[in-house]
Amino acid sequence: MPSRRKFIKTTAAAAAAGLTLPRLADAMPAITVRDRADKPATAFAGLPVIISAANGLKDRNPQGQSGIEVAYRMLTSGADPLDAIVAGVEVVELDPTDQSVGLGGLPNEDGVVQLDASCMHGPTKRAGAVGALEDIATAAAVAKAVMDHTDHIFLVGPGAKRFALQMGFKEQNLLTDQSRADWMRWKEKLNSSDNWLDPIDARRPIRPAPRARPDDDSPASAHVYYDSNGVPHTYGTINMNAVNARGDIASVTTTSGLSWKIPGRVGDSPIIGAGQYCDNTVGAAGSTGRGEANIKVCGAFLAVEFMRQGMPPEEALLQVMKRVIAMTESRLLDEHGRPHFQLQYYAVNKKGQYAGACAYEGSQFAVHDARGARLENCAYLYKKSEMPAGPISGVMIKP
Ligand code: GLY
Repeated sequence: MPSRRKFIKTTAAAAAAGLTLPRLADAMPAITVRDRADKPATAFAGLPVIISAANGLKDRNPQGQSGIEVAYRMLTSGADPLDAIVAGVEVVELDPTDQSVGLGGLPNEDGVVQLDASCMHGPTKRAGAVGALEDIATAAAVAKAVMDHTDHIFLVGPGAKRFALQMGFKEQNLLTDQSRADWMRWKEKLNSSDNWLDPIDARRPIRPAPRARPDDDSPASAHVYYDSNGVPHTYGTINMNAVNARGDIASVTTTSGLSWKIPGRVGDSPIIGAGQYCDNTVGAAGSTGRGEANIKVCGAFLAVEFMRQGMPPEEALLQVMKRVIAMTESRLLDEHGRPHFQLQYYAVNKKGQYAGACAYEGSQFAVHDARGARLENCAYLYKKSEMPAGPISGVMIKP
């Protein structure tokens, strides 16, 4: 930490040279921020509190419990905050109907499901991550095992799988019938001059009504966009963050990543500081949506740093979102400088203030505190009516 005297000296020297030293947040484009109408800019849950992407409340285990409910029950029973949220996201990882995470996740272009996950434990300042993990559904628990059992932080590909098997994780085929059928449909529709025909196979499940927009709120549609051929696309993910009654903090993010990705592609979820980050003295943050946009701003780390500077979570997240826009290449922006993708952030600070924020109006996030589990609307930069024409989702639209 620079001393105050050194800071003043540096600032004075810069001023004398005609330079100004901007604060982190000052280097942002001027974008009108629209807060949610339904709640004040600073939401305060009280401790303990857990926040997550919306699928943390929408997806259910066979007993009918959502991930955030499982995590909250563990947290309030005295479990470690990271143990609680890893168990919470496991509900989502094991729900085969969620095609954005774990079992049933949409595969890469070769039809292979590759998972990414990472976690951080505030009290011990430790972290773990796995990338491009195959055949093991509970990637978040494997990331935590890397944290718990090794002096490394990040294992990828076959090494990550071998480690998981050594740790006793169960090998299984993660490609469900539905995701395999969706992969075949994607292949058939990819190129009109290749050798794949377009049969209507009676045995293949066909989507009855493709959903057009990411703000479609039906449970299975979280983070999934269906194109005009009925092919689903997703960057979907779950991030979950917890603060217990003592103010101890943990964060975790897990995903099957971008659907139809090039094999080996790793998104933001397993990258410490991008997909999630936590600092036990400040708070935690994480992201879902287009990982390529988030990686470039180290969004979760930046959100925690903004909170460290004193911003409440909502302001911190909206500043991160503005930084994302400022760092987006022009091919992904419309003529007004608005992005052709959706991205969500979630943050909670040590006091229990929390928020979700996104680029376009319509996303929700889940919260669980003493008042119960609920969905709340994310703050946003742009209204739905300002979305560029054509499909938009967490999925990149090719220029
Ligand atoms: N945010 C998930 C991904 O881009 O893979």
